[in-house]
Amino acid sequence: MGRSCDLLFALAVFILLIHVHTYVSTVPNISNDEAALLAFKSHISYSPNNILATNWSSSSPVCTWIGITCNSRNHRVKTLDIYSMQLHGTIPPHLGNLSFLVSLDISDNTFYGELPEELAHLQRLKLINVTSNNFTGVIPSFLSLLPNLRIVLLSDNQFFGEVPSSLSNITKLQVLGIKGNFLVGEIPRELGDLRYMTFLYL
Ligand SMILES: *[C@@H]1O[C@H](CO)[C@@H](O)[C@H](O)[C@H]1NC(C)=O
Ligand SMILES: *[C@@H]1O[C@H](CO)[C@@H](O)[C@H](O)[C@H]1NC(C)=O
Ligand SMILES: *[C@@H]1O[C@H](CO)[C@@H](O)[C@H](O)[C@H]1NC(C)=O
Ligand SMILES: *[C@@H]1O[C@H](CO)[C@@H](O)[C@H](O)[C@H]1NC(C)=O
Ligand SMILES: *[C@@H]1O[C@H](CO)[C@@H](O)[C@H](O)[C@H]1NC(C)=O
Ligand SMILES: *[C@@H]1O[C@H](CO)[C@@H](O)[C@H](O)[C@H]1NC(C)=O
Repeated sequence: MGRSCDLLFALAVFILLIHVHTYVSTVPNISNDEAALLAFKSHISYSPNNILATNWSSSSPVCTWIGITCNSRNHRVKTLDIYSMQLHGTIPPHLGNLSFLVSLDISDNTFYGELPEELAHLQRLKLINVTSNNFTGVIPSFLSLLPNLRIVLLSDNQFFGEVPSSLSNITKLQVLGIKGNFLVGEIPRELGDLRYMTFLYL
């Protein structure tokens, strides 16, 4: 009797361990962040002195890469700040995999094309600064799906169309910059509901 109980217990522990193992190996980790950043690197067609090509290398830890800082608690990428580096390129959907990203500053470069919808997965994002690039398309509606955004700077690009009223869904928004684009129409009255807004650059 005692022996079969022990056996059952051992079996239960064994099954539990398998589940824990499966769980641990499916939870995203820094390797996923590295894959996302390497995909981003492959979409950068020019960087002076090939700085990213040499610095963003699998042979050194992601958290030591230029422009990257990590969360000390869970060791995931927290900020991607590569402004004023004369980079040319596009933004691949993979960037949406940086699920712990809080700050994305790629301003003052020559990135072009559209901002991919997958960035809507960056649920912790507080700051996005793409000022002074060559992005096109309408002002992305996915921004309204990012509830933690405080600072949204899209100025001096080639964005066109109307200012979406859905921006008023970003209730914590403090700074919105959309000047220097090809926007038309009215300023949506809903933006007046943003009670923390302190700077609006039109
Ligand atoms: C990250 O997860 C993958 C599976 O997705 C696993 O193979 C790898 O060992 C993990 N790496 C770290 C640093 O935990
Ligand atoms: C990448 O750049 C950072 C910051 O300048 C530096 O600390 C690090 O040593 C560099 N890594 C490599 C492999 O060049
Ligand atoms: C990352 O993003 C790309 C494109 O959105 C996707 O194909 C890929 O499966 C994602 N996951 C990982 C772990 O890289
Ligand atoms: C955004 O980018 C512009 C251009 O690089 C810079 O002047 C500005 O200080 C940045 N603002 C923030 C809040 O990051
Ligand atoms: C920016 O994009 C426009 C077309 O959308 C193109 O005519 C222009 O040359 C681009 N500027 C730079 C600096 O790449
Ligand atoms: C977002 O804003 C739009 C337009 O203001 C509104 O119709 C929609 O219900 C809002 N969505 C959410 C999830 O609050």
